Amino acid sequence: MALKWYKIENTLPEGDFVEQIKVNGKKVCVVREKGEFYVLQNTCPHAGGILSGGWCKNEYIVCPIHRWEYSLKTGRGAQGQGDYIHIYPVEHRSDGIYIGFKESWLSRFLK
Ligand code: FES
Repeated sequence: MALKWYKIENTLPEGDFVEQIKVNGKKVCVVREKGEFYVLQNTCPHAGGILSGGWCKNEYIVCPIHRWEYSLKTGRGAQGQGDYIHIYPVEHRSDGIYIGFKESWLSRFLK
């Protein structure tokens, strides 16, 4: 499936953070942890917690509701959870940071 790239508005704080932003009308969770930048789905697959209200621990995002943890690198839930979150591809370009969204066959057809 093709990716469509969207530039992130440069309103992000300095240093490490966990934030919610909207890209192409979609809320995503943006994380900078130890200088690395990640974009993840904003809704926890366990019971719908908002991951951007959580925090990072050892390269995992921790959901604020029941404290389940998901890898920032792979999206996999911590051992025993058996679930995962979506991690969006990120590109650092000369004019900013871009997020890749999968473009469905239907959305390409409807342009
Ligand atoms: S809703 Fe996220 S851990 Fe339960």
